[in-house]
Amino acid sequence: MKKFLCLAASLMMVFSLVACTSKKDELVMATNAEFPPYEYHQGDKIVGIDVEICQAIADEMGRELVIEDMAFDSVITSVYTGKADLGAAGLTVTEDRLKNINFSTPYATAAQVIIVLDDSEISSPDDLIGKTIGVQLGTTGDIYAEDIEDATLERYNKGFEAVQALLQGKIDAVIIDNEPAKVYVSQNEGLKIVDEAFTYEEYAIAIAKNNTELLDEVNSAIAKLKESGKLDEIVNKYISADN
Ligand code: ARG
Repeated sequence: MKKFLCLAASLMMVFSLVACTSKKDELVMATNAEFPPYEYHQGDKIVGIDVEICQAIADEMGRELVIEDMAFDSVITSVYTGKADLGAAGLTVTEDRLKNINFSTPYATAAQVIIVLDDSEISSPDDLIGKTIGVQLGTTGDIYAEDIEDATLERYNKGFEAVQALLQGKIDAVIIDNEPAKVYVSQNEGLKIVDEAFTYEEYAIAIAKNNTELLDEVNSAIAKLKESGKLDEIVNKYISADN
């Protein structure tokens, strides 16, 4: 019996070693695929700008891209705890997040914008005072909306759920990133985006603090993608220049 247990134990060690080495060839991307055009479901696939950027980075590194779809507020945690190699989810660079993880060089600029119903009286960020506002839990929209005077925040797991609540008249406005906002407004009648943006931001890829080797590799891959025009090509495939 002892011999058998010993054999079983050594077999397990061999297996875990094998599992570890094969993991080395993977590049695990944590994301929340509820954010078109950066990451979203298309049939049974997850597609979008972040997916293609990370695919290009993985190709550059000779690794296989593995996508882990999760709640948005788990993305940074999974990078921080080492469950994922990187987080790519239209992640805005913020001072607070930089305390826990590193960010790559930015690959996009973005803004938080306000979506309202067509006939809304809200026409600037100042008009949000005292209103009921929908956001996706844990996003910068959520964080910034906390500072709006007398406002009531409704936090949803998905950005689209906030948009649905707006359409149903349950809330007065949604604060969300500009590109998903454009997608939701184009897909649903009766919505508009307020001209004046709420904030301006930059997107980058999150990487664990101790993984500076990966940070360097990702940064040099991003530099190559920018130089070769491949980054623009990916962005243009999902975002038309005229909107
Ligand atoms: N840019 C915002 C942030 O970093 C929202 C990102 C939401 N991304 C997503 N995949 N749901 O907080």
